[in-house]
Amino acid sequence: MNKINSIEEYHEEYSKSVRDPEGFWAEKADTFLWKKKWNEVLEWDFDAPSVKWFMGAKLNITENCLDRHLENSGDKVAILWEPNDPNESSIKLTYKELHSRVCAFANVLKRNGAKKGDRICLYMPMTPELAIATLACARIGAVHSVVFAGFSARSLEDRINDATCNIVVTADGGFRGAKTIQLKSIVDKALENCPSIERSIVLKRTGEEVKMEAGRDVWLHEELSRVDDVCPAEIMDSEDMLFVLYTSGSTGKPKGVVHTCGGYMVYAEYSFRNVFQYEKDDIYWCTADIGWITGHTYIVYGPLLAGATTVMFEGVPTYPDAGRFWDICDKHKVNIFYTAPTAIRALQACDISLVKKHKLDSLRVLGSVGEPINEEAWHWYNDEIGKGRCPIVDTWWQTETGGIMISPLAGLTPLKPSYATLPLPGIQPCLVDADGNEIVGNDVQGNLCIKYPWPSMIRTTYGDHNRCKEVYFSAYKGKYFTGDGCRRDEDGFYRITGRVDDVINVSGHRFGTAEIEAAIDEHENVVETAVVGYPHEIKGQGIYAYAICHDTNVDIALFIQEINKTVTEIIGPIAKPDKIQIVHGLPKTRSGKIMRRILRKIAEGDVSNLGDTSTLLDPSVVEEIKAGASLE
Ligand code: PRX
Repeated sequence: MNKINSIEEYHEEYSKSVRDPEGFWAEKADTFLWKKKWNEVLEWDFDAPSVKWFMGAKLNITENCLDRHLENSGDKVAILWEPNDPNESSIKLTYKELHSRVCAFANVLKRNGAKKGDRICLYMPMTPELAIATLACARIGAVHSVVFAGFSARSLEDRINDATCNIVVTADGGFRGAKTIQLKSIVDKALENCPSIERSIVLKRTGEEVKMEAGRDVWLHEELSRVDDVCPAEIMDSEDMLFVLYTSGSTGKPKGVVHTCGGYMVYAEYSFRNVFQYEKDDIYWCTADIGWITGHTYIVYGPLLAGATTVMFEGVPTYPDAGRFWDICDKHKVNIFYTAPTAIRALQACDISLVKKHKLDSLRVLGSVGEPINEEAWHWYNDEIGKGRCPIVDTWWQTETGGIMISPLAGLTPLKPSYATLPLPGIQPCLVDADGNEIVGNDVQGNLCIKYPWPSMIRTTYGDHNRCKEVYFSAYKGKYFTGDGCRRDEDGFYRITGRVDDVINVSGHRFGTAEIEAAIDEHENVVETAVVGYPHEIKGQGIYAYAICHDTNVDIALFIQEINKTVTEIIGPIAKPDKIQIVHGLPKTRSGKIMRRILRKIAEGDVSNLGDTSTLLDPSVVEEIKAGASLE
């Protein structure tokens, strides 16, 4: 069953996974349904980079998520959907029903021209149809590219074009708290510049009026009435692409992280079962959106591979009030609850009676993901939500890693607040210094790398393999570089200290500072911008933008409004700066490089010691920026 049951067993499994990685993963993979077994477990070269798992094996991940559960658990609930409006009924889809809905959707895709290898963009609200569409793509061997439905038309357009998708699946609109988002009109705008799209398939959700373009747009419900629910699974090679998911890096536009079928499947299930210590009949709820990797691996694939009941929530934590998460936990008797520190901090700041009026007695395991969890939030989560009896798994991982890499195993690993603790079996982390030397021993700090392949690791960045090499495999030869700083304490426990590159993590959402700068620069009054992150009580990091303007004699409130509008149009509302300061110059070295270290310090409000500024072209700009900083 691939489940570790004690900390001793964890240590044994871990040693085995390092001694004989191929034997270790072959044994884990053996429990799945393969059309054909592998000839070789692993072939790898981090310089190329090239990583192949379960070579020659054939499978379809949806047969492992759905078909193989039908005989014994066909009537078990697979997806338990909770709508945005608590007065609307929740929906329970059994494994049998989900199987039939996925097959029918797959037939709709085929009817609309989809074939194996095509890229299909999903831009949808958190309805069951999003999970169904994801699995339907995998059923026919098409590559899904889910784009979070909070991104703008421009972001959607860029992602569709980068992967040359031929179909987009969307909805008329989506409900998010008290708001309705006009998804179809955002898609229409994006499609003005997406020549590869031949079809847009539209789910009716909000019922609002939308424009349907003849020959391009079709209604999902009409299409479903024209197909049956029998769809044999396409046979895929272990290394065929399963999905692409866009994420931000320190330079350029977001890149499409590519994951493949076999290795991703094995690791998604193995990590899900072990980290959360999943038990048959548990009700499991991950509050993420399927638009992010957390949703891919731990709402859809991991739980369904394990035959679990996975809760999907359409709404937001504060609607109709900030007790909604706890309402849902009690209503559906949730046993395992997985959320982000941002949500915990936001709810912690609300009236505690919204928590106290709930029983929360079904909870057994709590999880955290996406950003470092500060000690105060950890304790609140532990005391108020877990009532001191639910282990918290602080799970560190990334879009690129496909699954959880460093985390306690619930109830087995000793916990330390703000520590992700120990690597999962099969994961070989190491810390390196600035020169790339591995730092051995404990009580040390460095840049976090992984020195051996694991099954669900990134294979390439879509359409640009060299970028994958440059970003992840070139900083430290022979190692995958995570971009994170990390401490290993005296007990060998890992604590992630945050990004060491120009990536910021705002409410668990990842942005490159360059990406936000490029968006702000599109405002006609902006000459140049520098963006940095600064500590933010709720969001983890806030966005601080320094802007040089053509005309400095502006109404600052109006200017901020306009910048927010520009960023919302280009990236999405989640990337709006928290603070904007108009400056006359930026601290640049003689070679023209912006010294972000100084800007970060000022944004943090720590102006007493800015370090060496002697290499600056014009040190006086620092004084001006300090004097005008928004330090509230
Ligand atoms: O900096 C780390 C942070 O989030 C980054 C990955 O972001 P993304 O690809 O969007 O995936 C988020 C969900 C897996 C990492 O490089 N991060 C993620 N989890 C943690 C974390 N930082 C500290 N502790 C965590 N548990």
